[in-house]
Amino acid sequence: MKRVLVTHRLTENTQKRLQSITEHQIDFPLNDKLTREELLQRAKGVHGILCLTTDRIDRQVFEAAGPSLKVVSTMSVGYDHIDLAEAKQRQVVVGHTPDVLTDAVADLGVALVLLTSRRLIKAAEVARQCQWTGCQPNFMLGNQLTGKVVGILGLGRIGEGMAHRLRGFGVSRVLYSSRRPNPDAALRVCANFVDFDVLLREADVICICCSLNDSTFHLFDYDAFHMMKRSAILVNVARGDIIKQDDLVKALSNGLIKAAGLDVTSPEPLPADHPLFSLENCVILPHIGSATVEARDAMGHLAIDNVLAGIQGNPLEFPVSL
Ligand code: DGY
Repeated sequence: MKRVLVTHRLTENTQKRLQSITEHQIDFPLNDKLTREELLQRAKGVHGILCLTTDRIDRQVFEAAGPSLKVVSTMSVGYDHIDLAEAKQRQVVVGHTPDVLTDAVADLGVALVLLTSRRLIKAAEVARQCQWTGCQPNFMLGNQLTGKVVGILGLGRIGEGMAHRLRGFGVSRVLYSSRRPNPDAALRVCANFVDFDVLLREADVICICCSLNDSTFHLFDYDAFHMMKRSAILVNVARGDIIKQDDLVKALSNGLIKAAGLDVTSPEPLPADHPLFSLENCVILPHIGSATVEARDAMGHLAIDNVLAGIQGNPLEFPVSL
């Protein structure tokens, strides 16, 4: 019998599936999730860990688990919270859950584009407080997407999903920038590969869809904002640390860019007194890109498949390359 530590309560369906497993010992959190201390205490001697992006799976966790650990399975597409070098050195395989959340995240990214470009949060607030006197020519003006240039940073599954959706709004061009060109995806969404500088200078809407790594950490800093159009909108559905947030506050306050829509921040949750919350041209959501019943059920099932395969030494359905 192998032992699996699950760090969070999963969706109803996937939790039921986990609870029906009798051939292995599945350890659940007593509440909704394990604290860091509980994770370190309860990891000892487990064969698999099923975690989320909020769990930092670093050397301390690998050490706490010890040599029995064979697999870390994260219920997320991103795996920047896992120390992959440590996993590799300890011959621990790592699994993640791509594909099944692409539509949910791309949908939310488009929602952020519309929320910011049409000032929808402000508009809803004005209506709710009855602070308007009927339609006026200059009332609550935003910008439409027709004819605009979209810039996608990272044309992976989610980037392609956003480009595909935004094409439906009659945009004129889709540009993309990434570590290396993705000609197949680019062909499907008629996107042109450009240098990051060109993306910054030419795009009206920039969507951050890349992974967080050494080359993307704080990629959007004051210099980058300075190169963007003053009318540009920035949307981030990837990871908060790709943006240097203090610089974003300055850029939004000084009119260097028009607006930002963020599903991700650094840290998460962002403290309620953070200056970004005081800016009318910034919309912040609580990292809900993949928060649909459909996506979270599918992610949960994949994460369970991955952890079960890993503890038995079988190939994972979606391994992370180490
Ligand atoms: C992911 O899967 O990496 C998402 O950011 C979590 O919602």
